[in-house]
Amino acid sequence: MAKTTTKPPRTPKKVADSKTVMTELIMPNDTNPMGKLMGGYLMRWMDIVCAICAGKHCESHVVTAAVDHISFQNPIYLGDVITLEASVTRAFNTSVEIFVEVFANNIKGQQPRRCNHAYFTFVAMDDKKKNPVSVPPVLPLSSEQQLYEGAARRRELRLILSGRIKAKDATLLRQYFTDI
Ligand SMILES: CC(C)(COP(=O)(O)OP(=O)(O)OC[C@H]1O[C@@H](n2cnc3c(N)ncnc32)[C@H](O)[C@@H]1OP(=O)(O)O)[C@@H](O)C(=O)NCCC(=O)NCCS
Repeated sequence: MAKTTTKPPRTPKKVADSKTVMTELIMPNDTNPMGKLMGGYLMRWMDIVCAICAGKHCESHVVTAAVDHISFQNPIYLGDVITLEASVTRAFNTSVEIFVEVFANNIKGQQPRRCNHAYFTFVAMDDKKKNPVSVPPVLPLSSEQQLYEGAARRRELRLILSGRIKAKDATLLRQYFTDI
C-alpha cells in the first residue's frame, strides 16, 4: 500500500463539473479485416475519456487502477461516428469510479446505437506522480443517486476480485455470498 498524501477536506463537486464527451470518426486504421472497429482501440478511447473526466474531478494526475467487465453489444463500422460520454459516479478516499457509455451513428447522424458501457476506477496521484492523494467527494443529483449508491457495491466486488479484501470482510456484498 502506497503512502497517501492527505489534503485538507476537499469541497464536494457536481457530476456535471467533470462530464467529458469525446467524438471519433472510425477510419480504416481503426478497423479489423471485417471493417469493424477493433475492440482494443475502443477500449483505449474509453480509457482516455475516463482519465480526462477523472483528472478534472480530482484536479490531479490519475492512473487507471481497474476496468470492469466490457462487452461489445453492437458493432461499430468503418465511417461511423462514435461518441463517448464519461461521468464520475462516486469518489472514495483516493479513488474515483467513472461510468462511460459509447454511442454510434453513421456520418449522416442516422442509425443511432448504444454500443457499450463500462466502469473505470482511477487513483489520484500527487504532483510528483508518486503517492495517491485524497479526492473531492461527489455531490450527486437525485437522478445520479442510483449510480452513486451502486458504486460502493461495485468497489467492494473489485476489491474482492483483485484480492485486496476478503469476501468475508465485504460489508455491503455479504448478502450475495452464501458461503461466508
Ligand atoms: C493504482 C495504484 C496507484 C494503487 O497503489 P497502492 O499502493 O495499491 O495504493 P493504495 O493501497 O493506497 O490504494 C489506493 C487506492 O487504489 C484503490 N485500488 C487499488 N487497486 C484497485 C483495484 N484493483 N480496484 C479498485 N480500486 C483499487 C484502493 O482501493 C485505494 O482507493 P481508496 O483510497 O479510494 O480506498 C498502483 O497499484 C499502481 O500504480 N498501479 C499501476 C497503475 C497503472 O499504471 N495504470 C495504467 C495501466 S498500465
